Amino acid sequence: MRSANLPNESESILTSGAARPRLTFIGVGPLGGTYAACYAELGYEVLGYDVDAGRIEKFAAGEMPFYERGLDTLVRKNVDNGRLRFTADPAEVAAFGDVHFLCVGTPSRPNSDSADLSYMESAVTTLAPLLKRRCIVVGKSTVPVGTAAWVQQLIDKLSDTDVQVEVAWSPEFLQEANAVDDVLRPNRVVLAAQSDWASELLQAAHKGVFELAAMEDREVPLVITDFATAELVKVASNAFLSTKISFINAMADLCDVAGGDVTDLARAMGYDARIGHRFLRAGIGFGGGCLPKDLRALAARGRELGVGESLRFLSEIEDINLSRRTKVVRLAAELTGRENGPNGPELSGVNITVLGATFKPDTDDIRDSPALDIARRMRSEGATVTIYDPMGLDNARARYPELRYAHNLSEAVEGAELLCLLTEWEEFRHLDPAALGELVAQPRILDGRNALDPQLWKNAGWTYRGMGR
Ligand code: UDX
Repeated sequence: MRSANLPNESESILTSGAARPRLTFIGVGPLGGTYAACYAELGYEVLGYDVDAGRIEKFAAGEMPFYERGLDTLVRKNVDNGRLRFTADPAEVAAFGDVHFLCVGTPSRPNSDSADLSYMESAVTTLAPLLKRRCIVVGKSTVPVGTAAWVQQLIDKLSDTDVQVEVAWSPEFLQEANAVDDVLRPNRVVLAAQSDWASELLQAAHKGVFELAAMEDREVPLVITDFATAELVKVASNAFLSTKISFINAMADLCDVAGGDVTDLARAMGYDARIGHRFLRAGIGFGGGCLPKDLRALAARGRELGVGESLRFLSEIEDINLSRRTKVVRLAAELTGRENGPNGPELSGVNITVLGATFKPDTDDIRDSPALDIARRMRSEGATVTIYDPMGLDNARARYPELRYAHNLSEAVEGAELLCLLTEWEEFRHLDPAALGELVAQPRILDGRNALDPQLWKNAGWTYRGMGR
């Protein structure tokens, strides 16, 4: 680990004549959009590019095409001061940038666990022939190990031979709902480049992060490494976080049969600094646009490279995660006095209210949301399911129009025979069990995130069921 020891103003390494490298972010979704605004905030001149013209139009007008806490203010401010611009013209991107960050999506391929690199391929294929001066193209997207070398080959094939374009890599570790802070104040910066010149330019492109840290009297660890390691850090980290969550969820099952309380167990375990408290919250498991797909893509890449056996445990991690969802449906049947017969749980005609649609609180993202998957499973067992979420209803409705949604909490819970708290929004953590008891048909609650105080709810006359407590 090295702390910041970065080059001074990098005029010598820039062909644009600018004092600081000019940065472009290719793909301005939740990743590139956040980076673009934050790096403008750090003082860089930034150009954002996307093939989605609607996204570019919104950003250019200082509006948000998606929700991320605190991002709107940064976008408006930096669009207004002129440091942050957006374009749908790749030639403008090529002419502007000293450092081009690839921030396109890498979803799972249809019917496969492997990552789909077609957006990356199309971004590189569009940009490479347009590059007319020396620059670096930096991968930020989450990719299978080996991608950086492939991108360099593509660029070598497609760009002018007299223009030196070098690939570099620097993974990101953004958490939705905390992404602005994760970019401005990262817990580490990982850089990989193949020449001294590219390495110096890459460091100059991250210098603002280290300057802010120095101003705030913080250290940002810097890891300089090779391509393969830089590519692996992200997926390995996400797989490790998934493993922690599935581990504690397996312990929750054990607590259920042994009569323990998994929240106390996790608290007691976490005081060991080698274990730590974070990502040990048992519940209905992990979802979102990253953890599930990265776990599957890492396992798939391991198989391709002949080490599938060593990574076999990753499929167990996923199985444990998905088994949470069937467990909740089973518990719902148990709590409402229904059958859990040989054909699975039976919920016909039961009124169930699901609180939460997003994959976690403080976002409107419903990608791979455990809450919505459980709602759909309960519905297919015959339950009448009504969903309420403070921020995710529009996205949920667009994706699953067949489900029933309520406009507000009181409408959602009216007449419910079972409440299932499946996303731990602050609004749900502070529900008043006594007041709520007046609205529901039966005071029963399944706390899928262990977010409530069981005693409080029991005292108010509710049947309370948590996950492993
Ligand atoms: C994750 C990684 O944390 C981040 O570093 C990476 O860059 C992208 O993927 P994100 O998808 O925003 O970030 O969500 P995260 O906060 O990690 O939560 C993922 C899922 O795990 C959520 O569904 C959350 O509810 C669940 N979770 C998290 C648990 O079930 N228990 C925990 O203890 C923590």
